[in-house]
Amino acid sequence: MKLIIIFLSTLMVTLSLLTRSDTPMDFIEMANDSGYPVGEYDVVTQDGYILKLFHIPGDKSKPVLLMHGVIDSADTFVLRKKRSLAIALANAGYDVWIGNNRGNKYSRRHQYLDPNTDREFWDYSFHEFGYYDLPAIIDFVLDNTGAKSLSAIGHSQGNSIFLVLGATRPEYNERIRVLVSLSPICYLNNLKNTASQVLKLLPAITRFLSIIGQEEIFSEDTVFARVFRYICGSKKSYSFCTNEILFRLAGSDPEELEVDFYPSVIAHYPTGTSNKNAIHLSQVGARRTFAEFDYGYRNLDIYNTTVSPEYDLSKVTMKIALLAGLNDELSTIKDVTLLRNKLPNVVEYSVVNHKKFNHIDAVWGRNMHVYLFPIIFDILSKHG
Ligand SMILES: *[C@@H]1O[C@H](CO)[C@@H](O)[C@H](O)[C@H]1NC(C)=O
Ligand SMILES: *[C@@H]1O[C@H](CO)[C@@H](O)[C@H](O)[C@H]1NC(C)=O
Repeated sequence: MKLIIIFLSTLMVTLSLLTRSDTPMDFIEMANDSGYPVGEYDVVTQDGYILKLFHIPGDKSKPVLLMHGVIDSADTFVLRKKRSLAIALANAGYDVWIGNNRGNKYSRRHQYLDPNTDREFWDYSFHEFGYYDLPAIIDFVLDNTGAKSLSAIGHSQGNSIFLVLGATRPEYNERIRVLVSLSPICYLNNLKNTASQVLKLLPAITRFLSIIGQEEIFSEDTVFARVFRYICGSKKSYSFCTNEILFRLAGSDPEELEVDFYPSVIAHYPTGTSNKNAIHLSQVGARRTFAEFDYGYRNLDIYNTTVSPEYDLSKVTMKIALLAGLNDELSTIKDVTLLRNKLPNVVEYSVVNHKKFNHIDAVWGRNMHVYLFPIIFDILSKHG
């Protein structure tokens, strides 16, 4: 153990000396590049986090909120420039809002906690994304537009958080016209090989990081992100980093993530989250239940039960359309089917008609405007 700590500390020092490459374009620059002006707002949650919310103005009677997945940000919805989901929605006249969860690069702020020095800042998981971040963001959008409800589109963990919202704050169900759930994550019972191994390793990795005082993972300045960008940042590494890392986790679809586009993915992904979020996800997999954070012996104090309570999915009464892929190694058809059977109001369950549709094609796929967007627009016009 000591040896490992010494080795990793040396590695960290070495890596901290590596300079970062040029700063990639941010959300506003990418949207501007695609021809749209962007509004930006600071939304403050009930517990003091300051979240960045982007807005591409359109018809205020048709607000759509986009929520990114794990270790991701709003960037993901404009990364494909004119072929991105946010831009396609704006082209179709929707009033498009793009959120950022607490702790990612755009929402690394709090009214009185300092993310660089206060460990407490990082004391959150996807539970807080659903319980605090979403209500603040949704109320802000409804206030701004004067609409009574909005449509939502989530990618990956960007769906789990709506399930938490609907289960823990049921009054929000009626403020969602429909949730379009892309690559939905809820149960993690049937992850494929690599993804399942990584999930099992997460508790050990995060414990180590906690010991060395690091409660934030994957953000621009952490050792993981530096190693990842150092190794995978250029086109030369495409084959190794996609085949050995990205596709092993998400499912392989090289034609949809071509080598020319690949560097812009690595420039924007991953971005930071908390150790605790990674631990919570690994608990969902290990316990095979979609439950609140497991505090061990502290559960009794916190929940008045020895095990943390399951989220009550029967309370998630908002309309939900589930869109999954046969080649998705993270949200597998088996797990999405489990979810469908627990939810009371699934209005559609589609397997996307692109044979290699994996976990990331829904946000970065080269031709998602062909095999995915028509389904999304259809659901929005039927239920939105
Ligand atoms: C994009 O940015 C340029 C330079 O700041 C500005 O002149 C232009 O109006 C912007 N375009 C849009 C669509 O906002
Ligand atoms: C805690 O749980 C016990 C047993 O279920 C119950 O009797 C008690 O009222 C609960 N206490 C609180 C504060 O909810």
